[in-house]
Amino acid sequence: MQNQINISYASEGLTALVQQLNKHEYTSLFVLVDENTEQYCLTRFLAQTDLNPTSVLVMQAGEENKHLSTCEKLWNQLSSLGADRNSALINLGGGVVTDLGGFVACTFKRGIDFYNIPTTLLSMVDASVGGKTGIDLGALKNQIGVIQEPQQVVIDSQWLSTLPLEEVRSGFAEMLKHGLIADPNYWGKLKGLMDLTPEVLSPHIKPSVTVKSEVVKKDPYEKGLRKILNFGHTLGHAIESYFLVTPSKQRLLHGEAIAIGMVLEAYLSIECCGLRPEEAKEIKIAFQQFYPQVEIKKEDVDAILALLRHDKKNKAGRINFVLLTKIGIPAIDVQVPQVLFQKAFNFYASA
Ligand SMILES: NC(=O)c1ccc[n+]([C@@H]2O[C@H](COP(=O)([O-])OP(=O)(O)OC[C@H]3O[C@@H](n4cnc5c(N)ncnc54)[C@H](O)[C@@H]3O)[C@@H](O)[C@H]2O)c1
Ligand SMILES: [Zn+2]
Repeated sequence: MQNQINISYASEGLTALVQQLNKHEYTSLFVLVDENTEQYCLTRFLAQTDLNPTSVLVMQAGEENKHLSTCEKLWNQLSSLGADRNSALINLGGGVVTDLGGFVACTFKRGIDFYNIPTTLLSMVDASVGGKTGIDLGALKNQIGVIQEPQQVVIDSQWLSTLPLEEVRSGFAEMLKHGLIADPNYWGKLKGLMDLTPEVLSPHIKPSVTVKSEVVKKDPYEKGLRKILNFGHTLGHAIESYFLVTPSKQRLLHGEAIAIGMVLEAYLSIECCGLRPEEAKEIKIAFQQFYPQVEIKKEDVDAILALLRHDKKNKAGRINFVLLTKIGIPAIDVQVPQVLFQKAFNFYASA
């Protein structure tokens, strides 16, 4: 079993991957892609690694396929293609592929080795690091899964060249979050970026991965410190769910929703944790620079707050927030008086 986080980067990372695969002498090797990474990444990946997998498994793209039925198909395919306990699976894709592929690998014959090659910014800086694998149960996200580190993660910004801008922006929100919760200097660099091209982003990916992996190393099972990764996510998740289930609303990607969540929670941080108002303003202006303003009306706020009260993470009816006492210094398990929520939305809407 792999419990160490093993991350390598760029072309040296791919070389290290091939070396590790050769060392293991797997009886068979499988690559999992979705329709998009099959089209945009697979040929390049196979050419660069010179790998000749036993088979390439293709799943449909999108969160709606992060379900048990997809796993069952893949387990059946692995089985009929003769995979045994000494086989390995390479997940080449975004967070859906790395989460689901990791889970399929961890459960097939009680666990085979797997490797993650994240191809979205979000999966590079977040999903493929930290050992959480899993699938959704109905509409409930990530309800079924196991915690298990891959043998190796290879992070390479080359894959970003075909990724749509809104997906890049979605992952970038998690990078901004890493700065806000752990590293003011890094936050300062990110908020000053002029655009989000792969060339511009590339040098900033590793520091983000380091923030996440350091937090996870100290608290792999989310007993305390790991909660700081949820900054912006308490309100962000409620906004994400509300926009998803409300037909009249535009589609909001995860990172776009938590970007709003971080601005709202920056306001709550002024009121509950002594964050200086100038810092909260700085956070708001930085997000406005990268993310279009989203209109959230009074009735939307009411519905979002109703969802928030039903969040599965609430304990004994109390909603706990991760807030900031300063940029770079988070506070966990903060309870927020409900009267502040509407004020937070006013702060987000104000110029
Ligand atoms: N395990 C964790 O700790 C963790 C953390 C955060 C998020 N997640 C999970 O990650 C998932 C979201 O990940 P995501 O944002 O990467 O979504 P995703 O995997 O659905 O990828 C987004 C879209 O980009 C496409 N794509 C991927 N790579 C591409 C490329 N290089 N070029 C063009 N298109 C490409 C995909 O096919 C998909 O359509 C969610 O299921 C979430 O629960 C997990
Ligand atoms: Zn997130």
